[in-house]
Amino acid sequence: MTPIELVDLAIEAREHSYCPYSHFAVGAALLTKSGKIYQGCNIENVSFTPTICAERTAFFKAVFDGEREFEAIAVVGGPAGKPVSDLCAPCGVCRQVMREFCRDDFKIYLSKGDGSYMEASLIDMLPFGFSERDLKG
Ligand code: THU
Repeated sequence: MTPIELVDLAIEAREHSYCPYSHFAVGAALLTKSGKIYQGCNIENVSFTPTICAERTAFFKAVFDGEREFEAIAVVGGPAGKPVSDLCAPCGVCRQVMREFCRDDFKIYLSKGDGSYMEASLIDMLPFGFSERDLKG
């Protein structure tokens, strides 16, 4: 699975977005260490706070299935009804969920949907994050 193949699956996932309030559609494709793919989209709610991001939809589907080892995620987002044309960075809550299940070198691919992509690792995206280590003191 190449980064661009993963980005293409995120673009496909974005088609499933339910975003009647923000009109901002996001898609994610999560690759497990065993090679499985979990796709996710943002799912909004009229009460706003129950809204879930694309990244967490993908993670929670995978975790429900028993997956605990993750290699990479691709994320794309932008105004609904239009092709992606800008990078969409994962929100802080999603970065914290990544921290729960992934190591520092977990890869995050962002794309403008033009065949190019930007790569960052979780430690780049969430430096000095709160983790299980902190709880143990
Ligand atoms: N959104 C995501 O799905 N992922 C992110 O990391 C950023 C934000 C969604 C949430 C909401 O449905 C819409 O984008 C606008 O914030």
